[in-house]
Amino acid sequence: MRVIPNFQRLIALLTVTGSCVMAFAQSPDRQAKINLHVKDTPVAISPDLFGIFFEDLNYAADGGLYAELVQNRSFEYTAKDNKAWNPLTEWTLVERGGKGSVSVESENPLNANNPHYALLKVELAGEGVGLSNNGFDGIVLKSGEKYDLSIFAKTFDRSGVALQIKLENDQGEMLAETIINSITPDWTQYTATLQPAADTAHGKIVVLSRSSGSIGIDMVSLFPQKTFHGRKNGLREDLAQVIADLKPKFVRFPGGCLAHGDGLDNMYRWKDTIGPIETRKAQPNIWRYHQTVGLGYFEYFQFCEDIGAKPLPVVAAGVCCQNTGASITGKWGQGQQGLPLEQMPAYIQEVLDLIEYANGPATSVWGAKRAAAGHPEPFNLKYLGVGNEDHITPTFEERFKMLHDAITAKHPEITVIGTVGPFHSGEDFDKGWDIARKLKVQMVDEHYYVPPNWFWENLARYDTYDRKSSKVYLGEYAAHDDKRKTTLRAALAEAAYMTGLERNGDVVLLSSYAPLLGKHKHTQWNPDLIYFDNTTISPTINYQVQKLFGNNSADAMLPLTVQYVDEAKKPKEPSFAASCVKDSKTGDIIVKLVSRAESATKLQVNLPESIAIADKARTTVLSGDPMAENLFGKPAKVEPVTSTLNVSHSFNVELPVHSFMVIRIPNK
Ligand code: AHR
Repeated sequence: MRVIPNFQRLIALLTVTGSCVMAFAQSPDRQAKINLHVKDTPVAISPDLFGIFFEDLNYAADGGLYAELVQNRSFEYTAKDNKAWNPLTEWTLVERGGKGSVSVESENPLNANNPHYALLKVELAGEGVGLSNNGFDGIVLKSGEKYDLSIFAKTFDRSGVALQIKLENDQGEMLAETIINSITPDWTQYTATLQPAADTAHGKIVVLSRSSGSIGIDMVSLFPQKTFHGRKNGLREDLAQVIADLKPKFVRFPGGCLAHGDGLDNMYRWKDTIGPIETRKAQPNIWRYHQTVGLGYFEYFQFCEDIGAKPLPVVAAGVCCQNTGASITGKWGQGQQGLPLEQMPAYIQEVLDLIEYANGPATSVWGAKRAAAGHPEPFNLKYLGVGNEDHITPTFEERFKMLHDAITAKHPEITVIGTVGPFHSGEDFDKGWDIARKLKVQMVDEHYYVPPNWFWENLARYDTYDRKSSKVYLGEYAAHDDKRKTTLRAALAEAAYMTGLERNGDVVLLSSYAPLLGKHKHTQWNPDLIYFDNTTISPTINYQVQKLFGNNSADAMLPLTVQYVDEAKKPKEPSFAASCVKDSKTGDIIVKLVSRAESATKLQVNLPESIAIADKARTTVLSGDPMAENLFGKPAKVEPVTSTLNVSHSFNVELPVHSFMVIRIPNK
């Protein structure tokens, strides 16, 4: 055994255990003291500052938030989605004492948007010949709950064929079944409600023909009736609730790169995503899987409404992603193409139609489609993103200008959000801002994924932004720690930066962390805010930060000054950040404090006498080992701890090492 000298052993311990770091860090002679002075000169800030960005990346929609349980439900998977896939991916031929075969056909399909279907040829029925599907890593079924089954079928040689549909567990035990008698020669939808007799996390759906002959099968769908807010074709209840708990003020969707697409024919076209699900046009997902668009524009708008968030759709600026094809060609950033100019008028009309779909009266052409889907009232669309971190080229600029001018002319009530490239600075950033200033674009969308230290070094980024120019939407950001880990260190960097966003909430009007969701074992991008699988949801520490800001946002900022009592004890690198906001509805004062100092910080918080405050505040603290992570499926290492604090117009509080503290002081 190697003997470690005592001193080395101590250092090793200090670096691996959070509690030792605390003990080391709290030596009183190193402790900084800060006087915080808050002024009663409120500055109105955006009430929508903290929102979310949802993109179908990492199986966030299909296999994630969208509650559909059958994978490849309409036999539309192809090698364009993923080179290992084909229309029968996830389906298995089942011969139970019988004999048959399956092929994929496209003659006389269900409809033009849904061109493929499975053709089952049964020579000998036995106990049934058909297809089984395991869903997305197994179908989760709960005993006693109800599931809506829908299947389209037709016979090819004779009427009256019966289909038996079973839900089974991984042992092949039947949990529920239904029989559909008398399938006819025309495509017809058959529905049933199934109620499993037992739980399983690894269930499957089995569709069996009990007669010989040929039968076409398409659009096999199984949905829990228990969805978020009980919506048909709705969202997974538990996952949607964790998102709702963030109290986001807006939802940006559907991307990201997904919005401008992997080539011109892969742009996200909103009209393909509404109406009955069997008529929607599924397409490859730029993240190398498949998007059914079952979670389409209607469902996005409805989700926003259900969680009290404003919708913020993003449409392509008439160009596709500059990384089109790059995963194959290796040519990153060079794949941008513009829609042919002769197609732009129709494309612009498509975008104007989206505004009518969201806001137009139920008597308008597109408002009527919204009403037909069950929502005659408008969805109150206010924000519209045009473009996503596009390469700023003449091709982009020409098309962006056409869209911007048409939208602002017809809909001055809509805030158009432009784009300034994928980085916090550089050529695209500068050119994007030049266009914004030239066209007087109301808001631009900045994106940056950078190391934690960058956020600390740039806390004052927006202090000097021109208040009279375009406003800012920080649409995508995250602190990328070493190996992209979701450490407390990264979360604190984000928290510190968010105090800077609050202090500048008159120029930064919106912000959203990215990406939101990552399905365990199915991620294309890390880190993500929430990791999940079919049964487990693990919010990261970064999620806790976003939640604390979302639940403690306000509409006025009170300026503050930070004064180290002993400058000699001020850490060499920026280590402390703070903001103070006031919620005009409740009159509550909310102070947010972030520290990455190695010693606890003693604070004296001085509030103006003019503000009436209660004598007890609620504090919520996140703190711990800076390298701690709340990992998927493991007990959380860092969780918010809430307590009560006696306060007055001048009160003391100690900020632990590596911590984020929210002090909410009610109005008297
Ligand atoms: O958030 C993940 C991706 O990052 C987005 O799709 C894209 O806009 C950015 O590059």
